[in-house]
Amino acid sequence: MVKSADKLIGKKIIVVGGTSGIGFGAAQAFIDAGALVTVISSNQDNVNDAVKRLSSLHASGKVGNVRDEESFVEVLKSIAPVDHIVFSGVDQIIRGKLEELDLDSAKHLFGVKFWGALLIGKAVAKYDLINSGGSLTLTSGGAAYRPGKGASAGGALNGGVISLTKGLAGDLAERKIRVNVVVPGLVKSELWAKMGKTEEQQKEQFENAKLPVGFVATPDDIAEAYLYLVKADYATGTAVEIDGGSRL
Ligand SMILES: NC(=O)c1ccc[n+]([C@@H]2O[C@H](COP(=O)([O-])OP(=O)(O)OC[C@H]3O[C@@H](n4cnc5c(N)ncnc54)[C@H](OP(=O)(O)O)[C@@H]3O)[C@@H](O)[C@H]2O)c1
Repeated sequence: MVKSADKLIGKKIIVVGGTSGIGFGAAQAFIDAGALVTVISSNQDNVNDAVKRLSSLHASGKVGNVRDEESFVEVLKSIAPVDHIVFSGVDQIIRGKLEELDLDSAKHLFGVKFWGALLIGKAVAKYDLINSGGSLTLTSGGAAYRPGKGASAGGALNGGVISLTKGLAGDLAERKIRVNVVVPGLVKSELWAKMGKTEEQQKEQFENAKLPVGFVATPDDIAEAYLYLVKADYATGTAVEIDGGSRL
């Protein structure tokens, strides 16, 4: 029996979306736990920058765009087999007044987070990308459970990822591959600048959060959930909420 602290030593892990935010935090935590990590995202400069910031002989990077199934699967095949894949890719989140929602844009935004997750699940089912006993971990978001105003579409996207996780967990069980999902609440990541929020607006958003834990998470805080799901041999089809107590 391998000790929990040693479980990721020498394991090969791909983090799709690992060049920024939550994925980068998970990649860093896996490297700290002794894993060999490849981060993938769609932009070469972001990949180079992330590998530089990870600053480890155990870190590497590749460009891959989940909007293009054929070329993306080739990228995965070029690294396979690995022990675990984590997916945290997202374009922009879908928020705003329902009556002003641009449906074409919303459908386009599903293209990375939802269809990206499904295409990775399909590729794992079809090819020998993940070793038996390994795992796939997806990323949802608290809006799945509590969309509030302005997140009907964004909440449904996150809810879809949770349902998808449970479906994939059943589909991949024969291959002895576990599938789980992290459901983060508010996190201080590069996503908010990408959404057009100024530093001032972000500061205000984080100050107004008033969470029971008394602070807003950084990606390092969320990395604990990925570490758990990747290491927990008894967890499949599991959604781990990590949200500072926002639903209390
Ligand atoms: N931040 C929060 O408060 C929060 C809260 C709840 C849930 N979440 C969820 O957590 C996940 C990660 O969010 P985050 O805050 O870490 O976002 P982020 O900092 O914007 O990171 C997104 C990552 O996805 C990659 N990506 C975007 N388009 C891609 C594509 N076409 N193909 C491959 N990779 C692509 C980006 O790199 P490139 O641009 O180089 O491709 C980047 O590495 C998302 O699912 C998000 O919805 C976040």
